[in-house]
Amino acid sequence: MIETLSGELGELKLEEKRLAILQIANHSMGIVSLDTPQVIIGRSAEVDLHINDTYISKIHARILALHNSYYIEDLSSRNGTMVNGEPVKRALLANKDVISLGRTNMRFIQMDTIDENYIKKLNLQMIQSLALAVEAKDPYTKGHSERVAELSEKLAATMGYLQSEVERVRIAGILHDIGKIGVSEVLLGKKEKLEESEYELVKLHSMEGRNILKPLFFLNDILPAIYHHHERFDGKGYPEGLSGKDIPLWARIIQVADTYAAMTSDRPYRPALTDEQAIKEITNSAGTQLDPVISHVLVKIIKSK
Ligand SMILES: [Fe+2]
Repeated sequence: MIETLSGELGELKLEEKRLAILQIANHSMGIVSLDTPQVIIGRSAEVDLHINDTYISKIHARILALHNSYYIEDLSSRNGTMVNGEPVKRALLANKDVISLGRTNMRFIQMDTIDENYIKKLNLQMIQSLALAVEAKDPYTKGHSERVAELSEKLAATMGYLQSEVERVRIAGILHDIGKIGVSEVLLGKKEKLEESEYELVKLHSMEGRNILKPLFFLNDILPAIYHHHERFDGKGYPEGLSGKDIPLWARIIQVADTYAAMTSDRPYRPALTDEQAIKEITNSAGTQLDPVISHVLVKIIKSK
């Protein structure tokens, strides 16, 4: 759940991100888990402290989760809010900060462990941004990365791979052409056939892709798929001229998905093929350009649409 909130911190998109607690001193509530994007802390005449209680008569402060950080904001309380003995209107909280609301003291504790789901979400956002960067550069790949990703995912799932692997193949599909960021727009958008020297420059994108993604350790497992996605089953592809099963499996999957997605979309030099024409082409390329088994699986998927 993502909540949006307007206030003194501006328009906030609060996030579920739960690895912090409040340790409340001298109070029966003991430990409170900060497990929603916004936690209201209040006081009433009868009860010393309420947290997230809708019946609070005097609201005191709130804690907000935002971009993997926590903030405290005083809500015009009578006695003020203090962090480590200093009065604050709002403040970024650090691990072990002491928050004082009137006579109540509590310690904010953020766990060392990183929330895996949160990191996974950040990683996916980063991957999507990278894919958009290529698409902004090459209008003909608009939506292409997503199509290749979907098809690659379907191929891997139909071939019986584990869900965890299917997800990685999908990510490799989204990013397979990321190296085109390093290729000139003039070449990418050229309607005429490329000169030999121009084609050599475009071919560099598979190596560039690997270089661009190398620093992101969470993508290390997909680098071979990016680097080899233009190898051919008969060994006549690039960059290494690998053949058959020497080509990493994920690269072979992406090659089939990429070829089909390119055939069935309009290109500067020709209109899109129909499914029927594409099946014919894929079947003709099985065993030469494409892995024959994966091509067969693709044809089955297209026919079952
Ligand atoms: Fe490519």
